[in-house]
Amino acid sequence: MMYTNLIIAAALLPGSFAQETVYGVYIFHRHGDRTPKSTPPANLTDLGYSQVYTRGEYYRSRYVTGDASLKVKGLNTDLVKQSQIAVTAPKDTVLQNSALGFLQGLYPPVGRRVETLRNGSQVAAPFNGYQLIPINLVSSGTGSEDNGWLQDASGCENAKISSNNYFTSKEYTDKLASTRDLYDKLVPVVNGTFAAKDVTFKNAYTIYDVINVAEIHNATIPSDSVLDSATLHQARTLADSHEYGLAYNATDNIRAMPGMQLAAEIVKFLSNTVASKGASKLGIQFGAYASFLSFFGLSNLTAASPDFYGVPDYASSMVFELFSNGAAASEFPSADDLQIRFLFHNGSAASSADPTPFALFGGNDMSIPWNRFSEKMEKFAIGTAEQWCNACGNSTGTCAGYGESGTSSSQSAPSHHNRHGISAAVGGVIGAMVTLAVLLGLGSLVILVGGMRLVSKKRLVDAGEYCQGLKERER
Ligand SMILES: *[C@@H]1O[C@H](CO)[C@@H](O)[C@H](O)[C@H]1NC(C)=O
Ligand SMILES: *[C@@H]1O[C@H](CO)[C@@H](O)[C@H](O)[C@H]1NC(C)=O
Ligand SMILES: *[C@@H]1O[C@H](CO)[C@@H](O)[C@H](O)[C@H]1NC(C)=O
Ligand SMILES: *[C@@H]1O[C@H](CO)[C@@H](O)[C@H](O)[C@H]1NC(C)=O
Ligand SMILES: *[C@@H]1O[C@H](CO)[C@@H](O)[C@H](O)[C@H]1NC(C)=O
Ligand SMILES: *[C@@H]1O[C@H](CO)[C@@H](O)[C@H](O)[C@H]1NC(C)=O
Ligand SMILES: *[C@@H]1O[C@H](CO)[C@@H](O)[C@H](O)[C@H]1NC(C)=O
Ligand SMILES: *[C@@H]1O[C@H](CO)[C@@H](O)[C@H](O)[C@H]1NC(C)=O
Repeated sequence: MMYTNLIIAAALLPGSFAQETVYGVYIFHRHGDRTPKSTPPANLTDLGYSQVYTRGEYYRSRYVTGDASLKVKGLNTDLVKQSQIAVTAPKDTVLQNSALGFLQGLYPPVGRRVETLRNGSQVAAPFNGYQLIPINLVSSGTGSEDNGWLQDASGCENAKISSNNYFTSKEYTDKLASTRDLYDKLVPVVNGTFAAKDVTFKNAYTIYDVINVAEIHNATIPSDSVLDSATLHQARTLADSHEYGLAYNATDNIRAMPGMQLAAEIVKFLSNTVASKGASKLGIQFGAYASFLSFFGLSNLTAASPDFYGVPDYASSMVFELFSNGAAASEFPSADDLQIRFLFHNGSAASSADPTPFALFGGNDMSIPWNRFSEKMEKFAIGTAEQWCNACGNSTGTCAGYGESGTSSSQSAPSHHNRHGISAAVGGVIGAMVTLAVLLGLGSLVILVGGMRLVSKKRLVDAGEYCQGLKERER
């Protein structure tokens, strides 16, 4: 038993056996346990704080400490060196606080440090030498955890329209019809939060979210006899397919905008590692499950495992390791000698602390040449304001002048203006629901009259605009 575990551990930590040198790492991380989205503002809980802190400690043992299993070459061990590490998160309390908690585990306090001033007096650092690491903002994902409607955090009109198309797909309408009994059964469990008529597959994720939070935190749940493990499993997998449908569609992939922006950020950071000969070493971004699901679809990870159709658990992370085979040479290797390995750790659902490698882009190799990786990623990456504005169909406001800055960073992409707290969330949920109400109204009419199932694209666009107008008025 022990022996098997050792072999598995060895397979997961190639650095400790085969000789490899890691030069750069990019980590994309989900937040820890939080309060439900349906009652904004959502907050990181103490459980969630411990989850991300523990993951920070784990990645410290993998990449940072002197005896780390895959020590990033030249990365400072105890005292953080700001130029080596870049941390980002969208403007969102749960995600920002998760990033902070993670960093506390990654670079813990260095102990009492005393500074002697010119006049001889001594000053000790607060909090036992707690290390301050700035977290920069990324525009994609603003307010993610306070929004029930997945695309509200993307700020991209064409992505919203594309996601709304999901609600007329056969896949969706079939599930809506076939799951009515299940959701009816769940009404007494969630009727404190949802009106009975809203407890259907159309709200699959927010319903699951309320139940999942209650399963973790509430000592008593009304009618919890309904929640046997088969029902819970169904509620979760239905929420998974609902969110995956909104996040990715192979033939209409603009809805995967969060994943496209993330792809650009990953390539940009690691390209910089290569260009700077290893000066920027550790990129860390906190973000929402929408970016994970979109990215899983875009990079064809669903071919590596059908588990990628599921929403990653709290405190999940995906990792990109840039390494070369063999011991570190005195010169930084040429781009041709660098490899990328992708790994995924399913957060609080994972049985081991180590992330598992998976083959990207529908291939079989657990690592691929850096050049091939960046080429494949560039096929769907959206990193400049110009690309973003064109893809999203925006031409006014910030998008009218995108040519001027000329810089290619998604951080220079137009920022999504934050709407205030509760109205943002309600706007989002209403947005999704009104679309549905409109679509379903139209849909049943069409079915009555002509026996057709699908609504024309034109009407969908109108529905999308209608929602947008509704939200504008609420601001
Ligand atoms: C989150 O915390 C704020 C106070 O910081 C509180 O007003 C709010 O109700 C909390 N949200 C939930 C869902 O508990
Ligand atoms: C020494 O300088 C610091 C900072 O200017 C000041 O706060 C402190 O009171 C000074 N101590 C003495 C003994 O003058
Ligand atoms: C994916 O997009 C195609 C083309 O727009 C559409 O026919 C199909 O129903 C979509 N599937 C989902 C699940 O949205
Ligand atoms: C929820 O449903 C239960 C069982 O039908 C009922 O007793 C309760 O009053 C309902 N609560 C609300 C807030 O509607
Ligand atoms: C869980 O507890 C919270 C706070 O007491 C309550 O608002 C919520 O309705 C409960 N949810 C369920 C499903 O019991
Ligand atoms: C992660 O765990 C969730 C919950 O158990 C599951 O639905 C999902 O498929 C898992 N994802 C992967 C990639 O293992
Ligand atoms: C994903 O990979 C599988 C297996 O290689 C392949 O059959 C499929 O066409 C790929 N899908 C996309 C969208 O590239
Ligand atoms: C993009 O266009 C949509 C719809 O017109 C608008 O709501 C949104 O604010 C625009 N975003 C930017 C950054 O211009």
